[in-house]
Amino acid sequence: MNVILLGPPGAGKGTQAQRLEERRGLKHLSTGDMLRAAAASGSAIGREIKGIMDRGALVPDEVIVRMIADRIGEPDCAQGVLLDGFPRTVGQAEALDGILSQRGLKLDRVIQLTVDNDAVVDRIGGRFSCKACGTGYHDRYRPTAKAGICDKCGGTEFLRRSDDQPETVRARLEAYERQTAPLLPYYQARGVLREVDGMASIDDVTKQMDRLLSAA
Ligand code: AP5
Repeated sequence: MNVILLGPPGAGKGTQAQRLEERRGLKHLSTGDMLRAAAASGSAIGREIKGIMDRGALVPDEVIVRMIADRIGEPDCAQGVLLDGFPRTVGQAEALDGILSQRGLKLDRVIQLTVDNDAVVDRIGGRFSCKACGTGYHDRYRPTAKAGICDKCGGTEFLRRSDDQPETVRARLEAYERQTAPLLPYYQARGVLREVDGMASIDDVTKQMDRLLSAA
C-alpha cells in the first residue's frame, strides 16, 4: 500500500507517520528529514538546501523528485511507503505518478490532515525531537514520560528545528497555501483523497487513519 499524508506544517504528519510505520509495516519517507540530513552534511548543496529551508521556501522539484525516485526503489520500501512532506507541488505529484507507474505500483490513499492555523503555530512552537532516534515530542501535547529522557531509545539530547521560528512558520504556511493546497483537487479528481480531523487528540487521529487505511 502506498499512502501520502498531506497537510500544512504542524498538522501532525510526522507524528502519525511514525505511529503508522510501526503499526502497518509501511516505510515512512519524510522529505523534510532527508533534506535536514543533507543540510547537516555541510556540503555545498547541503548549505544551499539549509538556506532554502530556513527561509520557509520549497527546495526545487528536480532535487526532491530525484531523491524520492532513488529511495522508493530500495528494498525496505517493497511493502509500501508512507510519504510525509512529498509531493508538495503539482509538478512533484505528476512526477510521483510516473515513478509509481514505472514500477507497476499505484497510489492507494492520500490522507489530508485538516487543522486550524492557530493550532499549527502552537504545535510548532512546542515541538522537539530526540537527537538520537528522531522521535517527535511536544512540550505540552506529547511530553516524554520521564523529563529529559526519550521514551523510545533513552536518549537525553533533544533538538528544536531552525525553521520553527515564527517568521519562518508564516512563510511555510504561505508556501503550503500557494503551492501545496492545489494538490487537494488534484487527488480529489482521482478518487483517492480522504480527510481526517487533525484537531483531535494524537490517539484519535491515529484511530481515524487506521480506519481509513483498513477500508482502502
Ligand atoms: P517538513 O519537515 O516536511 O515540514 P512540514 O511539512 O512543514 O511539516 P512539519 O514537520 O513542520 O509538521 P508535521 O505535520 O510533520 O507535524 P508534527 O507531526 O511534527 O519540511 C520542512 C522544509 O523542508 C520545508 O519547509 C521545505 O523547505 C523542505 N521540503 C520538505 N519536503 C519538500 C518537498 N517535497 N519539496 C520541496 N521542499 C521540501 O507535529 C507538530 C507538533 O505538534 C509536534 O510537537 C507534535 O507532538 C504535536 N502534535 C501532532 N499532532 C498533534 C495533535 N493531534 N494534537 C496535539 N499536538 C499534536
